[in-house]
Amino acid sequence: MFVIRLVTAADDAATLVVPVGVTGPLVPDLSEEVSEIWRTADKPGVAGALQTLPRPLRRPAKVLIVGVGSGDEPGWRAAGAAAARTADELLAVVVPAGASPAEVGGLAEGIWLAGYRYRDSVKPARSAEVQLIVSDPETYAESLARAQVTASAAWLARDLTNAPSSLKNPAWFAAQVVFEASSRPGLTVTVREPDQLKAEGFGGLLAVGGGSATPPRLVELSWHPAAATRHVVLVGKGITFDSGGISIKPREAMKLMRKDMGGAAAVIAATLGAADLALPIRVTALAPLAENAVSGSAYRPGDIITHFDGTTSESTNTDAEGRLVLADALGYAVSALAPDVVIDLATLTGANAVALGKKLAALFTHDDALATALTDSGEQVGERMWRLPLPEDYVGYLDSDLADRHSSPSRGAGAVVAALYLQEFLGDKVTSWAHLDMSAPSWADSTADDQVKGATGWGARMLLRYLAASALDGR
Ligand code: BES
Ligand code: MN
Ligand code: ZN
Repeated sequence: MFVIRLVTAADDAATLVVPVGVTGPLVPDLSEEVSEIWRTADKPGVAGALQTLPRPLRRPAKVLIVGVGSGDEPGWRAAGAAAARTADELLAVVVPAGASPAEVGGLAEGIWLAGYRYRDSVKPARSAEVQLIVSDPETYAESLARAQVTASAAWLARDLTNAPSSLKNPAWFAAQVVFEASSRPGLTVTVREPDQLKAEGFGGLLAVGGGSATPPRLVELSWHPAAATRHVVLVGKGITFDSGGISIKPREAMKLMRKDMGGAAAVIAATLGAADLALPIRVTALAPLAENAVSGSAYRPGDIITHFDGTTSESTNTDAEGRLVLADALGYAVSALAPDVVIDLATLTGANAVALGKKLAALFTHDDALATALTDSGEQVGERMWRLPLPEDYVGYLDSDLADRHSSPSRGAGAVVAALYLQEFLGDKVTSWAHLDMSAPSWADSTADDQVKGATGWGARMLLRYLAASALDGR
């Protein structure tokens, strides 16, 4: 990670980063030169647009003009990301006098997010130092610390998701959670192994994980501060590799399926972040972890599965495995954890990308206030979503002759039908439930904005922002 320091004066050797907005330069220093460049630029002040100001024989020798757009938090995040990409030495950013703590937090977050490298990458992580030149460091210390927690949550979610599946089996993932929790006071972790899963009836998780040489786990990570009045349960799909099982995927569709635990990574990272920020809200993250493998012990098309809540599913396509493991975890959440809100994140269907393209997750909920809260949190951090319906008259698609429901009816609207299937396991106890299908935005095909090619960590920052807001306003 970059080291970011708040200073009142820049080091002489620094490359100076000067922010400009769409309405013009923001800092008085160098103003005439910067104004000139701003006037002649292709995209004057557009968030993340970069230009170098040539200054022969003068100090500082290198000035980067970076756009912050309208100067809101996302604009500053884009500016930070653009500046970080150029950083090979000491960078100093001139922060305008009136900048808010949230804007400076956004700037720092953008620097850290764009500076990300997978921890086992053969390419070294970038390690430049960044100085933020401010008049009063005290004003920004807290927002800088929060930005570091948030960026660290994204880094962890990205690292877990980028990790190859040869390393990342269910036991390994569980061990990472135990390790991360051990350095943070106030967290508890429970890891269920197959014997216990069997004794308690987690039939979906055992069926999906049954074909793998590395058996399934259920991780339960809990942050329970004394001051909490609300309980949010986060559930994340944790398929450590999705081959499709006996209903095997074609080659192209399988090659990135190590990312099929991105939901689990995000809910774990957000819960660790809630502890780091000491948020006054109870949070439980559930990560059902399994490898969907092909073998003689794999579950088969046509099998009938009995879930944690005692109901059964007919599964005719073993590639619809995510919903089976989520079904158990959701059933457990509502019967054992007394949640006020349940939010699940899952790389659940290819239909997410068909409906909404690469950048938007699909949001499903009956709760309008929760929809607004999640959508707003996502907008603020740049993890966007779009709401899709849960049509009552499609529920009949789930009918089965052999079981309480069919897990993979082929009637179209794949993302919607999957959400309707999950809804079955909430019972009538929880009205505040949201499902996020994040298959598409969980991966970036190229390095751009605050994303680095590979896992995006989608959802970790959005959830952390939501939890912080929810602790205050109870939505
Ligand atoms: N993990 C996949 C969904 C997925 C696809 C995630 C592409 C990321 C990118 C999921 O388990 C799956 O295979 N879904 C099937 C469901 C179908 C069999 C009902 C799909 O979307 O085709
Ligand atoms: Mn699948
Ligand atoms: Zn899957």
